[in-house]
Amino acid sequence: MRIETRFAWILAFCFCLGVTIAGTISYRLEARQASDEIKLKADILLETALAVRAYTVDEVAPVMRAMQGSEQFHAPQVPSFAAQNAMRRLTQKFPDYKYRESALNPTNPQDRASDWEVGLLREFEADPKRKELVGEVGSGADQRFYVARPIRMSSAACMQCHSTPAAAPTAMLAKYGMANGFGWKMGDVVALQVVEVPTAPAREKAFNSVQVTIGSLSCVFVLSAAIFLLLLRRHVTHPLELLTRSAHANSLNSQASDASLPIAVGGQFDELNQAIVRLRASVDRALHLFDRAPHAPTGPASAQPSGAVSKPATEAAAPSKAERS
Ligand code: HEC
Repeated sequence: MRIETRFAWILAFCFCLGVTIAGTISYRLEARQASDEIKLKADILLETALAVRAYTVDEVAPVMRAMQGSEQFHAPQVPSFAAQNAMRRLTQKFPDYKYRESALNPTNPQDRASDWEVGLLREFEADPKRKELVGEVGSGADQRFYVARPIRMSSAACMQCHSTPAAAPTAMLAKYGMANGFGWKMGDVVALQVVEVPTAPAREKAFNSVQVTIGSLSCVFVLSAAIFLLLLRRHVTHPLELLTRSAHANSLNSQASDASLPIAVGGQFDELNQAIVRLRASVDRALHLFDRAPHAPTGPASAQPSGAVSKPATEAAAPSKAERS
């Protein structure tokens, strides 16, 4: 495999790994930021509803009671009615947000808690210190983020309409009946304040911004990788190929080629080129000298005659010894 191809694969692998990590981190950050934003808006809505409730209890209800007497009744004096209606008007401007007050035993049947809200009410009942529950409900396109806070029965003023039908204004009984919304006790968690927001837009926003991040990272990567591979080809692999080809040709046919390599490589490879040229010149010079030198006998053939010289001497000595004996 060519060096450029190998580098391209390694870079692509690093890029995929980097993009996966960056994408995941970016998605998590974006999603967290989106849910923080939703939570902040939900908190503002919940506090606004509480403010409307308090305003109704403190300012509206006493005036209306004074004007109409305790047996008369008009819904605008009811804190829950005032809060839910004011919030309905507000959420018309922010249609993603929904506010409601849900109870197990509601005066208005429309305020009856749904299954998952009953679960939240039970959680608040079980833990009196819990002030808020945050989570997601539903699935797929219908998934919603919620923030829920408990409404605890904490004021004796509420008991007029929520303790027994006998204590409630007759006009109210005529409108809402006697069956629901009574029997509440002081300290009980009687209802929930719930703000719901669909999660899909926030997820989509997070996803879009991750796409932008990945898209810009990809552009930067593709551009840098292309420039890097081009430079690698121009300054490293191409000169190396020239050197290799030339050195290869010289090694196969050293006598026929010129002593200097006929290539022009730039940069650091010039030194290597010069070194090969010098090596080649040295080898040529050595071969030249070798060719011109008188050929001395070499190898086992030269060892033989010296042995042959010494042998007659021994052989000559031997008969003399024999002669003597
Ligand atoms: C004058 C009578 C009256 C008083 C006082 C009153 N409420 Fe209600 N309350 C009602 C009526 C009527 C409704 C139903 C309003 C509607 O149509 O949404 C209601 C609704 C509610 C709801 C929504 C669930 C449901 O029952 O439909 C909650 C929660 C609630 N009241 C809590 C309180 C609390 C807490 C107080 C005291 C701060 C209080 N109420 C004071 C009459 C009253």
